[in-house]
Amino acid sequence: MSNDNEKKVLRSQAWFGRQDKMGFYYRSFLKNSGTPQDRFEGRPVIGICNTWSELTPCNGHFRVIAEHVRQGVLDAGGYPLEFPVSSLGEVTMRPTAMLFRNLASMDVEEAIRAHPLDGVVLLMGCDKTTPALLMGAASADLPTIGVSGGPQLRGVYRGQIIGSGTNIISMSEQLRAGEITLAEFHEAEAAMNRSAGSCMTMGTASTMASMVEALGIGLPENAAIPAADARRNLLARMAGRRIVEMVAEDLKPSDILTRHAFENAIRTLAAIGGSTNAVVHLLAIAGRVGVELTLDDFDRLSRDVHCLVDLMPSGRFLMEDFYYAGGLPAVLRALGERGLLHKEARTINGKSLWDNVAAAPNWNKDVITPFETPFKPEGGIAILSGNLAPNGAVIKPSAASPELMKHTGRAVVFESVEEMHDAVDDDTLDIDASCIMVLKNCGPKGYPGMAEVGNMPLPAKLLRQGVRDMIRISDARMSGTAYGTVVLHVAPEATVGGPLALVKNGDMITLDVAARALHLHVSDEELATRRAAWTPPEPHAARGYQKLYIDHVLQADRGVDFDFLVGRSGSPVPRDNH
Ligand code: FES
Ligand code: MG
Repeated sequence: MSNDNEKKVLRSQAWFGRQDKMGFYYRSFLKNSGTPQDRFEGRPVIGICNTWSELTPCNGHFRVIAEHVRQGVLDAGGYPLEFPVSSLGEVTMRPTAMLFRNLASMDVEEAIRAHPLDGVVLLMGCDKTTPALLMGAASADLPTIGVSGGPQLRGVYRGQIIGSGTNIISMSEQLRAGEITLAEFHEAEAAMNRSAGSCMTMGTASTMASMVEALGIGLPENAAIPAADARRNLLARMAGRRIVEMVAEDLKPSDILTRHAFENAIRTLAAIGGSTNAVVHLLAIAGRVGVELTLDDFDRLSRDVHCLVDLMPSGRFLMEDFYYAGGLPAVLRALGERGLLHKEARTINGKSLWDNVAAAPNWNKDVITPFETPFKPEGGIAILSGNLAPNGAVIKPSAASPELMKHTGRAVVFESVEEMHDAVDDDTLDIDASCIMVLKNCGPKGYPGMAEVGNMPLPAKLLRQGVRDMIRISDARMSGTAYGTVVLHVAPEATVGGPLALVKNGDMITLDVAARALHLHVSDEELATRRAAWTPPEPHAARGYQKLYIDHVLQADRGVDFDFLVGRSGSPVPRDNH
């Protein structure tokens, strides 16, 4: 093994192994930190790709995580070099962090390729940081390990467990309904975010950390160890050790991210009741490695999977409970025992997925329910289609109301998110609980960035009557921490002239989740008349990154990546820089 290691010519030696003007140049500047000469003489150089930022509080502890990775790399004889990439803070970035996912992925891909690296450890946590780094690293295709930062500890407010996002939504509705005071609202804010880490519900961050583990691109237990638990630091250290071995083995993302790996991830997504956002992210990652994944794969593969994990927003518990119950390995084992896992799929620790989880214990069957008596029989994401969404739409049945899963109602239409916000608090709005709220122009090009606004707030007057759910349809996404009977990702989006653009107040719409149907009861002739009268909205930007985005972003059914980023280029050594 170590002989092979010594014989292998490392990519970084194209920089550091040269005994000429350029070799002087490449080594000399790095010596300003006190780096000894032997670091340049054949040690694998490991990039620690860090998304730390004070503006991304969910990744605020990543300088500590990076130190543990660094120690692991040193333990194994590698040369660690940490570098920053764009960070994507879900809470503060406007108009939506998703607008910048592809930008960050370009940053990651180009940084990996441009630098003298042999392998990479990706530090990711807050929602969009995970897909952005995986997309970039997949296109660069050097040996890579994903390390998630871990979820926060449980939120506890006045003795009650509260979950990220999920309880923000319910408490803001309580505030609007006059059930709690502003002081109580402020107190709950501090109670919810009381430790380092990402959202501790099964929102997008925890879902994507689970996808890292299910895809095999992270170590076992990556999904659930809380950020504040010392075992998160241990996992980071072991990732640092392992990446050095992976360089010797030349084990790359293209070896790990196979069609079988994505099928495992989709089934896992169903079993954890994961975020709808994972659909666009997995499609985009698959596109980078040339795996032809479609929306139909999500529907087909989820159908025989139950939702096993009783976590908010679908259920009661939080990520901390999930970890103590056995975490994702226990879920993967349950899937494998039912023949719902490609057991041979390779993972970054060198073992198969099944080797990693075959003996995984389940310590708490309330949190991780048995397959025979699942938390919810209908797992996963259902893919809808019909004349309102010719290229598909998604709904998460486990977070929806059973009585609304088959329903016909009158459309109440909003042309923009601002119009919707003005209208929902106006008691003269002509709406009742049987209506269907329809929101347009919030898709990839329309917002732009496909914001998390699909779970529209319910009209104030209906909230006061005790209404807590209604059907909502849009071309937007929703937060992974949200819930309700919400149809999302309608494709094509309204802004490019999808049928959603043609819906009018008073039209009747049928949602039938069992039949996977979303139908607008308007004749083809009438739709053709409306289409002839339709004009596209003005683009949101005439220059800059937003123009690039609008010109090149793909629709939701294709993962919302840029057309020119699909595929991978590997990491050949670039030409000399001087
Ligand atoms: Fe960062 Fe939820 S806002 S993980
Ligand atoms: Mg979110």
